[in-house]
Amino acid sequence: MTAKQKSKSNLSRSWSGDEIRSTFIDFFAGKGHKIIPSASLVPDDPTVLLTIAGMLPFKPVFLGKEPRPSARGTSSQKCIRTNDIENVGRTARHHTFFEMLGNFSFGDYFKKEAIQWAWELCTNIYGLNPRNLVVSVFREDDEAESIWRDLVGVTPKRIIRMDEQDNFWSSGPTGPCGPCSEIYYDFKPDLGNIDIDLEDDDRFIEFYNLVFMEFNRDKAGKLTPLEKRNIDTGLGLERMAQILQGVPNNYETDLIFPLIEVLNKLFNVNYHKLDETKQTSLKILGDHSRAVIHLIADGVTASNLGRGYILRRLIRRMVRHGRLLGNKQNFLAELGNATINLMKQPYPNLVGKRNLILSELKIEELRFLETLDRGEKLLDQIIASNTSLITGNQAFELYDTYGFPLELTQEIAEENDLSVDIKGFDDAMDQQRKRAKDAAVKIDLTAQGAIEKIALNLKKTNFLGYEALESQSSVLSIIFDGQVADSVTVGDKVKIILDRTPFYGESGGQIGDTGSLIRDDLKVNISNVTRVQNIFVHSAEIIHGTLAIKDRVTAIVNSFTRSAATANHTATHLLQSALKSVIDSNIGQRGSLVAFDRLRFDFNAPLAINNRQLREMETLVNKWIIEDHPIAIEYMPIDEALQEGALAMFGEKYGDIVRVVDVPGVSKELCGGTHVTSTSELGVFKIISESGIASGIRRIEAVAGPSALSYLNDRDLIVKELSELFKSQPHQIIHRVSALQDEIKELKINLKTTKEELAMSRVLALKKHVTSIGNSQYIIEQLDGIDATSLQSAALKLLNELGDNTAVILGGLPDLDNPDKVTLIVAFGLNLVRKGLNAGKFIGPIARDCGGGGGGRPNIAQAGGRDAKSLSLALDNARQNLIALFE
Ligand code: ALA
Repeated sequence: MTAKQKSKSNLSRSWSGDEIRSTFIDFFAGKGHKIIPSASLVPDDPTVLLTIAGMLPFKPVFLGKEPRPSARGTSSQKCIRTNDIENVGRTARHHTFFEMLGNFSFGDYFKKEAIQWAWELCTNIYGLNPRNLVVSVFREDDEAESIWRDLVGVTPKRIIRMDEQDNFWSSGPTGPCGPCSEIYYDFKPDLGNIDIDLEDDDRFIEFYNLVFMEFNRDKAGKLTPLEKRNIDTGLGLERMAQILQGVPNNYETDLIFPLIEVLNKLFNVNYHKLDETKQTSLKILGDHSRAVIHLIADGVTASNLGRGYILRRLIRRMVRHGRLLGNKQNFLAELGNATINLMKQPYPNLVGKRNLILSELKIEELRFLETLDRGEKLLDQIIASNTSLITGNQAFELYDTYGFPLELTQEIAEENDLSVDIKGFDDAMDQQRKRAKDAAVKIDLTAQGAIEKIALNLKKTNFLGYEALESQSSVLSIIFDGQVADSVTVGDKVKIILDRTPFYGESGGQIGDTGSLIRDDLKVNISNVTRVQNIFVHSAEIIHGTLAIKDRVTAIVNSFTRSAATANHTATHLLQSALKSVIDSNIGQRGSLVAFDRLRFDFNAPLAINNRQLREMETLVNKWIIEDHPIAIEYMPIDEALQEGALAMFGEKYGDIVRVVDVPGVSKELCGGTHVTSTSELGVFKIISESGIASGIRRIEAVAGPSALSYLNDRDLIVKELSELFKSQPHQIIHRVSALQDEIKELKINLKTTKEELAMSRVLALKKHVTSIGNSQYIIEQLDGIDATSLQSAALKLLNELGDNTAVILGGLPDLDNPDKVTLIVAFGLNLVRKGLNAGKFIGPIARDCGGGGGGRPNIAQAGGRDAKSLSLALDNARQNLIALFE
């Protein structure tokens, strides 16, 4: 031991997190270990998304696939785990981001050295008192047990055997693995060596794991010995800091607490004076801030996939917990900056990435804040509607429109006793994927089978529709039931091909015209027109008369629907120009639909378009409308058109001569669609929605011309109806609804208090039912119609009144409308707990009897079940078990 190390070997000195880290590394460097810098959080390993343990960078070395960097190595590895993210901030020791200190043997030393050095480090260097240490070994690992007992001198009672669930470690379902031995810190050594329960979080914390890595597990689960036996260890830096700094949890160590102090100032709060929920929010922020700055520094950007989604989810959780603390401002950049400062010494890479990190945080925060209010309102409405379920569509709307990661919705749901229809969410997501696919691949519905064969034998249709809405035409072919028909009559639904037509055939996003074919004795309705290459196929129904091949008819386009589509098509061009001008000139079209009632435009953009930008674009398009720009249509060679800067749709095939739609100074596009002759014909342009349809692809829906008028009329009608319903002037509706929401909130709170009071009085009445056995006493009762929280506080109150020798066991159906749900509470008085009774364990079998599960601490535990019929039997069993324990 060096002099420096010796001076540190007592717990009374204070240890900073940085010292704990460097002391570990120095200790193992002194034992011949090469110091290996932390690898990236983004692993070079396709089987995992993030680096989840110190050993991950060495997986190929353990498997013998890569040469070892040296025989022994030591590192402090940054890690992220999100598998139990819901525990972060709620327990004393869970994290997303944490640092794992490790010493590794690559086919060099094995159990004996690993165990002896770990002990030496803990007791001699960090100065932990052996009284405070307990170790676990794998059930079958006699060798490890005898090293601890005979070579290290640990009392056998403080060596606990555990099964493979706890003491067989692997980094994933396949790969290197082996039995392990863990060192636990005992915060209450006075409780002695009897009944040591390492799962009792109040007493023990596991802080050092020694893995004896000697197998490879294949996909079938088969273990094959590795060529060489290795050591992989992990000591949790934050946990060691909690122990050595004598603080109640990891978040109050100097590794994280300075961030909470920054938040205290930013939000004008005081961590120590806050209730537990708000403290949890601060802890979550401290934890997540470390995770997000390192993820961004290691090249992850927020998205809806893989690592990007983890980052997005963390950031959005942060924004939400900031709001739970009453903050409405942007704060992530400031917190991120403080986090970089706190961590820059061990991670100097953060400094060069500062701008990148802060701007990513800002962008992602803004992106979420823009929709958060509205999303929260939607959630409030769902919660206020007294449902027990957030439907798949609602969860999807929250995800797609308001940016709530599904897991965030689930968390909020849980906080409010709701569940989320995950399957419904997945279905809605699948449907969206399908829509995105349809938008990307143009599907010509008529390009199939019979119709295609027939149509292609005909000569190309002469399209007159740019100039005329009416023409005299001859019937070239009638297709009925997939066959050519000579004549068809009333009621038949057919496809008709004419020699010439004024009907626009669906293409370039614009839908086909509607209208009719008429003759004195004949009326045919046309509901749509598609194209098979250059042949126009009219979908038709014979309304009266008979139609035969070679008949002459008058083809008349419905001028109202045509002008609606035409206005929307010109508006689509203006919208594209506005997007380029307001957002980014690199934006390009990825799909479009020009319909009678609206237009839909899909384009590439990394970010959602915010409300301010949408308004700016809308104003710009309306300005172009008012300026009354004439529109010129020209035909020219494609090269010339492109040289003049006309926009062409990526991936679209064009002929040699192209049609160019030119709004001089505003827009120039290759396009075969119908257009107004001057922009003022559009009247007004209104954006109605913006959403994401696939990663990096956004969609705007808008209306112009006739469809704008009918959209505005519909909205106006809704406002009028709301106005009547709420008995308010239109401009007061929002105020009125929000007042009603407040009222509902208040009523809910009152209801909750009343319920709790009622529960309390019903439970307290049970005092009379207490049964005594010797010094102890118990109450076991079924009480329905009381929610779990109220039942729990009532049980505690009862315990409080009846004293430390009492056991209270309550079960019931909390919600009489949902008779499948069972709640169970077990509360044991202090003296019973001292005698070794454990509520968390006791509740297990009762819950199982009721088809559920749950757990808790030794003094109080809660569980749920789904089998209400078994409740009374379960309570009887519980009574017997309890009596047996008392006796
Ligand atoms: N790889 C081991 C763990 O993560 C040390 O616990």
